[in-house]
Amino acid sequence: MPSAVRVRDQDGRMPDFAPVTPDIISALEAIVGADYVLTLEPDLLRYGRDETEDLQYLPEVAVRPNSTEQVSMIMKLAWTHNVPVTPRGGGTGLSGGALPVFGGIVLCIDRMNEIIEIDEMNMMTRVQPGVITGVLQDQVAELGLYYPPDPASNGSCLIGGNIAENAGGPHCVKYGLTKDYVLSLEAVMPNGDVFRTGGKLKKDVAGYNLSQLLVGSEGTLAIVTEATLRLIPMPTTRRTILAPFDSLDTAAKAIVAVYQSRIIPAALELVEKAALAAAEEHLGRAVPYSDAEAQILLELDGYDEEAVDRELMRAGEVLLEAGALDAMLADTPAKTRELWTVRKCLGEAVKKQAAYIECDTAVPPDRVPDLLRGVREVAAEYGIKQISYGHAGDGNIHVNVLTNDPDHAVREATLRPAVLAIFEVATRLGGTITGEHGVGCSQSRYLPMCRDAVAIAAMRAIKDAFDPKGILNPGKVLPTEVPPPVTVGSA
Ligand code: LAC
Ligand code: ZN
Repeated sequence: MPSAVRVRDQDGRMPDFAPVTPDIISALEAIVGADYVLTLEPDLLRYGRDETEDLQYLPEVAVRPNSTEQVSMIMKLAWTHNVPVTPRGGGTGLSGGALPVFGGIVLCIDRMNEIIEIDEMNMMTRVQPGVITGVLQDQVAELGLYYPPDPASNGSCLIGGNIAENAGGPHCVKYGLTKDYVLSLEAVMPNGDVFRTGGKLKKDVAGYNLSQLLVGSEGTLAIVTEATLRLIPMPTTRRTILAPFDSLDTAAKAIVAVYQSRIIPAALELVEKAALAAAEEHLGRAVPYSDAEAQILLELDGYDEEAVDRELMRAGEVLLEAGALDAMLADTPAKTRELWTVRKCLGEAVKKQAAYIECDTAVPPDRVPDLLRGVREVAAEYGIKQISYGHAGDGNIHVNVLTNDPDHAVREATLRPAVLAIFEVATRLGGTITGEHGVGCSQSRYLPMCRDAVAIAAMRAIKDAFDPKGILNPGKVLPTEVPPPVTVGSA
């Protein structure tokens, strides 16, 4: 491990970083080529935003390396000069993980986009971190293989970002998260040293599990430059049903009923009416059962068509017995795609409604009805609008609280107390402040609500072991004082 002076103290006070000088810019140009060193304002604005709320920070420079060696050289340079580096994938993050809150260098891995190998025999793939998740999924699908983690942004998010955030998505309920597919990694330390955590192995218990330590570490420990991922056979049958309900509470209880029936859905999503209205506005067309108070989207898949159909009948019965008004089967691939288009647009659709803060709550699945009841009580108490939807089968509900005032300060004053109250509801139910979007800079103040002081101290010690100078993605995960965003608006 590198050793150097600490610039960040135990309480996470603001670090004292060096600025990016013209000499550093020239050195970056020598490493990656002048075309891939960006210093103009429109570029800096772009690399200073992700999909998180109205947050905007400005890096001093953005750089797009295309090899492990280049990443290593950039980190050596930054380490030597004590310049902060914020790694960035597709810029689709929802907790500000890729925002350069202390300026410095944004290191974007988008050019490292090679699928190095698809090993059909071993059902593994080796990829660079800049591969778009959906592109990998399509490529392996052509070989009858499946890479299940599918965040809503899979058309543009990158595998490196998915690994950093341990991204999830609707199919986690059956297939697990990104962590369940990462076998080993190559990564670059904050001081530029390169290391591997293992090979193309299904079993390897040699030492601490650094692969899994890096998964979900939000680019604060090392920069992943290559990943070996597990694949599974592509299910040959897929059935999707949509069930409308006349109350959100009944729908939430139906989720628990599906659980109790021991059916294992490939996806089990819950959407409330206000989210459907937002989807209709966003898509400019009607969506099925949008007048229902809530909907459940349930998918089953498998390798035996008859078995899947038997399970489908059973799932339909469970939903109807639990109070569903109907259970509509998407009986063509086009209808299935349409249901998923509606579901996957919700994040964007809700955002377009008003200024918002999102609480990525997760609770034990059987507590989802209590969570949703608690959220509505909070909204009523604070007099704010909220819209909830999400991966109810995982107990993971995205609760968005909204205000019509776009001003950042007003948004904060109006919504923050409600956000805190919602997290209190979630954690009282044994839940967490983020199920799949990460802590980043937008949720770090809430980390102590779901992790005790000893655990947070252990996290700080791990961070210090990897990054004693604190230059890699500072201001993320661990509660840290960060500067306010530089501008506001929903650019
Ligand atoms: C979704 C994103 C917001 O579930 O996580 O649509
Ligand atoms: Zn989600």
